[in-house]
Amino acid sequence: MFVPGLIERKRDGGALSAAEWRDLLAEYEAGRVPDYQMAALLMACFLRGLERAETAGLLDGMLASGSRLDFAGLGRPVVDKHSTGGVGDKVSLVLAPLAAACGVAVPMMSGRGLGHTGGTLDKLESIPGFSTQLSLDQMRAQVERIGCVLIGQTPEVAPVDKKLYALRDVTATVECIPLISASIMSKKLAEGLTGLVLDVKQGSGAFIADADRSLELARTMIALGEDRGCPTVALLTAMDRPLGRACGNALEAEEAIMALKDEGPDDLRELTLAEGVEMLVLARGTGGQGDGGTEKARAGYRKELEQALTSGAAARKFQEIIEAQGGNPAVVDDPALLPQAREVEVYRAPRAGRVLEVAPRAIGRAVVQMGGGRQQVDDVVDPTVGFVISARPGDKVRKGEPLASIFARTPADVELAHRALDEAITIGEGAASPLPLVAARVTAKGVEQLA
Ligand code: URA
Repeated sequence: MFVPGLIERKRDGGALSAAEWRDLLAEYEAGRVPDYQMAALLMACFLRGLERAETAGLLDGMLASGSRLDFAGLGRPVVDKHSTGGVGDKVSLVLAPLAAACGVAVPMMSGRGLGHTGGTLDKLESIPGFSTQLSLDQMRAQVERIGCVLIGQTPEVAPVDKKLYALRDVTATVECIPLISASIMSKKLAEGLTGLVLDVKQGSGAFIADADRSLELARTMIALGEDRGCPTVALLTAMDRPLGRACGNALEAEEAIMALKDEGPDDLRELTLAEGVEMLVLARGTGGQGDGGTEKARAGYRKELEQALTSGAAARKFQEIIEAQGGNPAVVDDPALLPQAREVEVYRAPRAGRVLEVAPRAIGRAVVQMGGGRQQVDDVVDPTVGFVISARPGDKVRKGEPLASIFARTPADVELAHRALDEAITIGEGAASPLPLVAARVTAKGVEQLA
């Protein structure tokens, strides 16, 4: 394999065939292609883009590098969701047990915090004893037994994506729609799904902030899923403010537990139910790929999900999952068992007016700087730190009114958090114009505007 020739072709706007991607990724995974050549190729991909067929070739090469789960004998629909990442997005912790309580098998493989965004694994690991490192065999066995598992990418699944992702992270080649799409879908399609719901974020806190580009990202992932026999639907959702109130790992786990008892914030509840309806449509929907189900069916699914929250079935399912993965299930009854921060302080409105913005990036960055995320790959995350922000865009506030609580390790970090909130929360005159929580549903058939 003459790698400089492949880089040259990509650099000059040409494409690699599916066979070339497969062989190249196999050679790279085996350590016979050095990082510097792969980095040059990734940058050429970033600058030149990839056509749909080429993105599919890249995805298939990634899938071929590892194992795929097969749940054909399970006799139940197997549906997962994936979010493109945000601040305060703890939907997975609520939705996976909720969907499982409604009879859907959910083999969820998630990631860690990345940049300013939080990660489901870090949130789960704030539960004392919870292990996210299971083998594929253990994963399969748990799905068969209790219908849901919440783990990290195993070494068997798309190993070349893991290597490529680490390289992209340090070569400024993350924010590229075909590369993101192939990367996400390589992990999701390896789960052996019968359906997939994507939560594609838009707004200033999203990786792809721009509405048109987030739609393109959704369409690219949907095409990859559908072409491989996995019905895929995406919701375009708001990440121009944090989701819910809690930002930070244990704080988010606590808020997710409250949501599982139907005592969480409204936006978290709404988004969880919206994604849950899509999961049930895929699991039981009429008429095949991506038709969205009838309005009557959707209303029924929503009611079923609401009942699983109010009856305690979803919270009990979360307890089962925690117990199966070595954690302390008592946190569901008593969230005070989650690790607690040393310093807690209230942040008050520095002036009267209307909250015009709560900027998620500044909040997410501060959580990382306070120790709640990684600045270097081997940093140990402090689960206790973060914010609970009650202020929402549009609220009218008085000077001195409490807007947020700060949870930190040291008084210096409390100061840092104060400065971050000063930067993130804009109070002024006039009207706030937040994005709609769920703007659109995207399927293989097209885009349905929901707001
Ligand atoms: N998440 C992934 O898994 N891959 C990307 O490329 C970006 C986000």
